Amino acid sequence: MTTLRIVVGSDDAGFEYKESIKADLASDARVGEVVDVGVEADGHTAYPHIAIDAARLVAEGRADRAILICGTGLGVAISANKVEGVRAVTAHDSYSVERSVLSNNAQVLCMGQRVVGLELARRLVAEWLGYTFDPSTGSAGKVRAIDEFERLKRA
Ligand code: RB5
Repeated sequence: MTTLRIVVGSDDAGFEYKESIKADLASDARVGEVVDVGVEADGHTAYPHIAIDAARLVAEGRADRAILICGTGLGVAISANKVEGVRAVTAHDSYSVERSVLSNNAQVLCMGQRVVGLELARRLVAEWLGYTFDPSTGSAGKVRAIDEFERLKRA
């Protein structure tokens, strides 16, 4: 079975959830590697730095996916989406988490520690690990349009 390489990261407002989710990932057979880009328990690095570090690992192909936690899940998503090739979403419900992978091929899931309960966040991550984007679906062309826009913007 192919396992996933997952990056986890948070600011201080998301630290507890990041640690809890990291522990879940470490004992999940679908996960082969977990990389923690911070913060540590006494860390105060602002969310954009953590999110961009994590997104870069995904963009460079050194990780398959990332989970980012801040107070709301918004700042980390905005920041991660600035990294070319990364599709990050904030999602706190089962359907959105499913569609983030199956419709949007998003590699980065962001959640807010001040928004969603811990047990729901953990369950959503467990569900998220079970989804794989199918490039033969109609969604692929829409994701390609995003990629194409990025490519033209760069040129
Ligand atoms: C705290 O700095 C808070 O603003 C941050 O965790 C996040 O919610 C930003 O989007």
